[in-house]
Amino acid sequence: MILRARTTGADATRALAGAIAEQAAGGDLILLAGELGAGKTAFVQGFGAALGVDQPITSPTFTLAHHYEGRLVLHHLDVYRLERISEIDDIGVSELLDGNGVVLIEWGDAVAPALPNDYLEITLRYGEGDDDRHLELRCVGGRWSARHRTLGEKLQPWAED
Ligand SMILES: Nc1ncnc2c1ncn2[C@@H]1O[C@H](COP(=O)(O)OP(=O)(O)OP(=O)(O)O)[C@@H](O)[C@H]1O
Ligand SMILES: [Mg+2]
Repeated sequence: MILRARTTGADATRALAGAIAEQAAGGDLILLAGELGAGKTAFVQGFGAALGVDQPITSPTFTLAHHYEGRLVLHHLDVYRLERISEIDDIGVSELLDGNGVVLIEWGDAVAPALPNDYLEITLRYGEGDDDRHLELRCVGGRWSARHRTLGEKLQPWAED
């Protein structure tokens, strides 16, 4: 199940992410894919803001994971620097998903085989203008597939024409 959206600036990507965060529940896993500078971190910033995280959200490229308290506990991972997929096992994603935890992973598509097979994969691609991005959202597994329709409604403001 695939949904498509487009944004015309980083703030629009943050707003879109906020709309998804409104629907998020403890245990949700989101994988963010896309080239350098595509807007993965911008997405997490909007997502966290909508959860009520009030600290600045910065890329955890060197530290692997940052954790923030909001309506849910946001675990922000960036696996760009992992050398082997199995290194993700040390992070214990399943434990982070317990209770009120939500996990967002930049470059998560690269480690998907080592993760629970139930996630929303969001791929960001560069568009025509410098600030245009195309987003493809793919529901994998029951948690997100069950929300496919409401997700589509939430994404209406950014629907591709
Ligand atoms: N529509 C848009 N959506 C998101 N970011 C945008 C958009 N238009 C322009 N930008 C800019 O693109 C950059 C995206 O940077 P960001 O750090 O979010 O990307 P990233 O995918 O996390 O990169 P990296 O792979 O280095 O982690 C920012 O400078 C942002 O202002
Ligand atoms: Mg980033």
